[in-house]
Amino acid sequence: MNFTILRFDTIDSTNTEALKQARAGADEGLCIVARQQTAGRGRHGRTWISEKDAGLYFSFVLRPKLETRFLPLITFTAGVSVHDTLAGLGLKPDIKWVNDILVNGKKISGILAETADSDGGLAVVVGIGINLKPSNFPPEIAETATSIETETGSFINRDELIESLTRSIDHYYNVLHNEAGPETIVREWRRRSTYFSGKRVRVVLENEAITGTTDGLEENGALRIKTAGGNRIVQAGDVETLRNY
Ligand code: BTN
Repeated sequence: MNFTILRFDTIDSTNTEALKQARAGADEGLCIVARQQTAGRGRHGRTWISEKDAGLYFSFVLRPKLETRFLPLITFTAGVSVHDTLAGLGLKPDIKWVNDILVNGKKISGILAETADSDGGLAVVVGIGINLKPSNFPPEIAETATSIETETGSFINRDELIESLTRSIDHYYNVLHNEAGPETIVREWRRRSTYFSGKRVRVVLENEAITGTTDGLEENGALRIKTAGGNRIVQAGDVETLRNY
């Protein structure tokens, strides 16, 4: 994939900009990066606090040639790529289903995948936020978040991080498009996540909460959970919160 990087000092949200560019016909590989976001977005309408130079705020446009049922695996592909980029810095990341990257049990990175329709067909925008240094997080986040600087003791240059991240994304996105790509990505994700199976979790959905033990992923990345009342399958879009229990 050819990555073209558009850099902004301040932007509302790199995902919003990438979606706009995708709707206008941007090619696969267009990346938006900003030093600061004024309206950074997390999953489920949450805010992603995006102070100047405290994080990597990075989004890119994909035009996948995949069966629709496998589209959710794009976020797993991004998760594996972020994992490996952080592991390359000497960290030992874990991936919490569906796409939170944790180090020492604290969140260091989040991924937000969104879709846009355009004349060129469906585009997927993948937004990645990685905490570079401790930020003025509100107390409820401060206890559960960490950063590269906190974990490694040194500040990482944003461009170096982008370089290694795009290399990894390019690799695993190609893997996803291979014949056995979807199962390979699930397998790669499994090797990097303690959440794959045997983890006691409580998943809060819109209208109910499920408590049980994780039992692997479906072929599209949905999470199987064994509960006292039987087996349940949770689609990525359903999850409000998933916590150890
Ligand atoms: C989450 O864990 O809730 C997902 C967070 C995703 C944050 C990134 S930062 C770059 C991109 N732009 C946004 O507005 N959101 C994503």
